[in-house]
Amino acid sequence: MTLFDVYPLFDIAIVKGQGCHVWDDKGTEYLDLYGGHAVISIGHAHPHYVEMISRQVATLGFYSNSVINPLQQELAKRLGQASGYDDYALFLINSGAEANENALKLASFTNGRTRVVSFQKAFHGRTSLAVEATDNPKIIAPINANGHITYLPLNDVEAMQQELAKGDVCAVILEGIQGVGGIQIPTDEFMQALRTACDATGTVLILDEIQSGYGRSGRFFAHQYSGIRPDIITVAKGIGNGFPMGGVLISPKFTPVYGQLGTTFGGNHLACAAALAVLDVMEQEQLVENAAKVGNYLLSELQQLPQIKQVRGRGLMIGMEFAEPIKQLRLRLLKEQHVFTGVSGTHVIRLLPPLCLTQAQAEEFLHRLKAVL
Ligand SMILES: Cc1ncc(COP(=O)(O)O)c(C=O)c1O
Repeated sequence: MTLFDVYPLFDIAIVKGQGCHVWDDKGTEYLDLYGGHAVISIGHAHPHYVEMISRQVATLGFYSNSVINPLQQELAKRLGQASGYDDYALFLINSGAEANENALKLASFTNGRTRVVSFQKAFHGRTSLAVEATDNPKIIAPINANGHITYLPLNDVEAMQQELAKGDVCAVILEGIQGVGGIQIPTDEFMQALRTACDATGTVLILDEIQSGYGRSGRFFAHQYSGIRPDIITVAKGIGNGFPMGGVLISPKFTPVYGQLGTTFGGNHLACAAALAVLDVMEQEQLVENAAKVGNYLLSELQQLPQIKQVRGRGLMIGMEFAEPIKQLRLRLLKEQHVFTGVSGTHVIRLLPPLCLTQAQAEEFLHRLKAVL
């Protein structure tokens, strides 16, 4: 058997990671400004994470969601405290797409509606309704194109108010900061108007914080800059530092119903041990504060580079937009300077490093970037 060839690959095999560095099978060290696509939050192979997972797998790796799982209860409590959403409830699954899928299901179960508002350039995952809410026709299969979604321009208050005033929109889903869309930030004014319009029309407000959440923006959730509270928040990526996991944070407005949502693997013991280790380290090493501090430094330094057309972002979620296509530049960063970065489309390089990136590592990155500009 061979692999189903859906990924355009770099000819590099990463075999080891430590903190903000990874190594290939030839022993070459790379600075990781990509975090395996915003997944590595506390750094590669953090000793506390390794210990917690090792201990848990040697004790109990998995049992089903038909019995009490004290680790899930502890995770819900700790995540509520860390995020400022103490009064919300947690439903655990295995990925970001699954988190959005469940958020949209819950919204529809609750208000009985079927229309969803999403935004231009949005990315919400690759499963059924999550992919339909993703503004990229190339990845929506005919079987997923079911006419549920209206895409609106981000930050257009009037267009949003007009659509919601129709009174039949089930949910609005938007990213705390658009990632795949090229680091586009919703304005505070838009977020506040959206909250008001959702309340007035019985529409569920879902914040997809899968990429922008878990401290990456310099706040626990990116939407917290605007002061609003969504009805549902989805998380994944950084929650398990690479252990596959997703979560749905659900406002007390919603009433749980037995059997309505469910999963075999979601919230298993091993995943919870990983997620608890992540919260321990985020707290002990003050990684949200670090993301804000080092992120602000990077943003202000990058904004001074005349070769970059525009720098956008918050914390350690940064987009550098160039006037020219960035394919060659990114390849030179990787091959000549040994720096991993991400992309958005053809003109934006995305920085999504582990949240433990140090000031010295940020300086080192700037040095290596300048060498290829
Ligand atoms: C904002 C956002 N939502 C959802 C997803 C989907 O997550 P997953 O790949 O874990 O299904 C992603 C992944 O990149 C994302 O960036």
